[in-house]
Amino acid sequence: MQALLDALKPGQEDDTLARAIDPQRLPGHIAIIMDGNGRWAKRRGQLRVAGHKAGMRSVRTVIETCAQLGLNALTLYAFSIENWKRPRTEVEMLWRLLRTYMRLELPELMRQNIRLHAIGRLEALPPQVNGDLKEAMAHTSGNTGLQVNLAINYGGRAEIVDAVKALVEESRKRHIEIDETMISAHLYTAGIPDPDLLIRTSGEMRVSNFLLWQIAYAELYVTETLWPDFTRGDLLRAILDYQKRDRRFGGLGANGRPPVDERFSETLGIPAR
Ligand code: FPP
Repeated sequence: MQALLDALKPGQEDDTLARAIDPQRLPGHIAIIMDGNGRWAKRRGQLRVAGHKAGMRSVRTVIETCAQLGLNALTLYAFSIENWKRPRTEVEMLWRLLRTYMRLELPELMRQNIRLHAIGRLEALPPQVNGDLKEAMAHTSGNTGLQVNLAINYGGRAEIVDAVKALVEESRKRHIEIDETMISAHLYTAGIPDPDLLIRTSGEMRVSNFLLWQIAYAELYVTETLWPDFTRGDLLRAILDYQKRDRRFGGLGANGRPPVDERFSETLGIPAR
């Protein structure tokens, strides 16, 4: 958190936002559905790929800010299994951008002590993309700061299918008790705590097959802002909004509110159970 405050100029809007954040209640893990690149480009009369290119700037800003805040994990939805339905030229441009990103950003990721991890059906990616990802992961594997998960050729249902297949395979060799912990341990995100906050840009109210298992208790934040326009200030605003939420995880919460049936009984005039 201090690293972020040190990077900001006093009086700047982002500085005011950052100072309003409670460092004790930061989300440990933020997941983002980066949406709206195509619309951003279209509004400017440009090709969709120009939107993806501009979206890389937001990727950089968000990664840097999460690292400065001292968060544990950031998961970015970069390419879904369904995205193969897009025109071949757009898909190829996305691979090119991803490879460029890794080549240009690696020194910066090292400087910021960031560990890069790709999640998804990576074996189905073009070999060079897969190779570059593996190299970047190996290169940053010793870093101990923020873990950035890039979801690439990712689908939440496919992830659950892959976990079930691995469990069935394992159960052939030894007896295993199948419970929630066991399933979590076989997802691509094994060992990474679930996201606390899921952000989606461009106003769409969908989760689009993203981290279906892991977002069970995530707080959702949807902004109309298109991904290429998403700034550090937007991220800080999302975190401030998250800090206003009352997270009860199906229980009664920590803010002293009476249990739901007691509140109902007050209004309905019936005795509480
Ligand atoms: C969704 O916008 C965005 C994507 C499918 C790709 C995201 C890619 C980037 C942000 C750039 C590269 C990423 C990394 C990690 C280096 P959309 O195309 O669906 O927009 P639309 O809904 O307006 O058409």
